[in-house]
Amino acid sequence: MKFSVAVLPGDGIGPEVTQESVLILDEIGKLYGHEFTYAYGPVGGVAIDSFGTALPAETAKIASKADAVLFGAVGGPKWDDPSAAVRPEDGILGIRRHLKLFANLRPVQVYPELLEASPIKPDILKGADFLVIRELTGGLYFGKPKKRWETKTGRQSVDTLKYSETEIRRIVRVAFELARGRRKLVTSVDKANVLETSRLWRQVATEVASDYPDVAIEHMLVDTAAMQLVSNPKRFDVVVTENMFGDILTDEAAVVSGSMGMLPSASLAGIPDLDQGKRTRGLYEPIHGSAPDIAGKGLANPTASILSAAFMLRYSLSLGTEAMAIESAVAEVLREGYRTADIAEGASDHLSTVEMGSQILRRIR
Ligand code: IPM
Ligand code: MN
Repeated sequence: MKFSVAVLPGDGIGPEVTQESVLILDEIGKLYGHEFTYAYGPVGGVAIDSFGTALPAETAKIASKADAVLFGAVGGPKWDDPSAAVRPEDGILGIRRHLKLFANLRPVQVYPELLEASPIKPDILKGADFLVIRELTGGLYFGKPKKRWETKTGRQSVDTLKYSETEIRRIVRVAFELARGRRKLVTSVDKANVLETSRLWRQVATEVASDYPDVAIEHMLVDTAAMQLVSNPKRFDVVVTENMFGDILTDEAAVVSGSMGMLPSASLAGIPDLDQGKRTRGLYEPIHGSAPDIAGKGLANPTASILSAAFMLRYSLSLGTEAMAIESAVAEVLREGYRTADIAEGASDHLSTVEMGSQILRRIR
């Protein structure tokens, strides 16, 4: 089959890790008889430098025309000025909005081989395996008014936290659908003791739960969830939460897992129905960000990007077998002891970005 992929490498280590994913996709194409064509577009800081905007119209067009988007990362010290009119982050936020990617899937898996790389004690962490589903196009990130103004007594600013019942229902449904293929527990995270949006969230989540009698639901306050993530990560199966809480909790979860450089993500415009082979438009990116401090040094771990490409095959291209082939190759490479610097744990020899990519590629069959 033929597929078109929009490739938006972005800033920092984005281009290095994304390149490895493209090579992996080419290998999948060769082995399984598919043809992937790539349309590249600038996004983030590099786009600001050449076009004055983090999401040029042409890039948005490339992204909406493709079967799926493979995304690197955006941001870096060069564009960090808080008073700048344009910011690299507008690139990713703009695409999420433009493609209506409301569901962000961030699986947190703990590889037995990498237990020691986590700041959490191995016996607390061992066996943890959960999926965070973050609402991605609403809440504080996009609510209006969002502005700053001057008053007699000084500067003031506002962001708006707003959620409609429709937005809540569709994201909570994603959680329940995916929980059916897992351990059948949904933890809905909110701050219902303080926030009105959270009280609506809890109510709607409870309503949705009644359509899924086979899946259990629990409600948890976000501060409790932050504690539980480090003290008892094994208790979670599927976690669903609003945009801002999800942003914070997923970084915490990534560090807990000890394998930030290993974690992929998918941002989807619909509910994936893998049994029906239903395709969903999506954007796939490593969760680690642009890591400007190690950019261009060949130190970055390409695994998170490569696993994101696997997600792309599964969720947007209905190529589940091919996705599994990539995931098995990654697991094999880890088992055999290959490591990039981020997961090398003091070992003196570690692989470069390209070397890690080729080790994974070689094991795909
Ligand atoms: C993420 C990132 C983004 C976010 C930034 C780059 C805008 O932190 O994907 O988690 O806050 O959503
Ligand atoms: Mn984040």
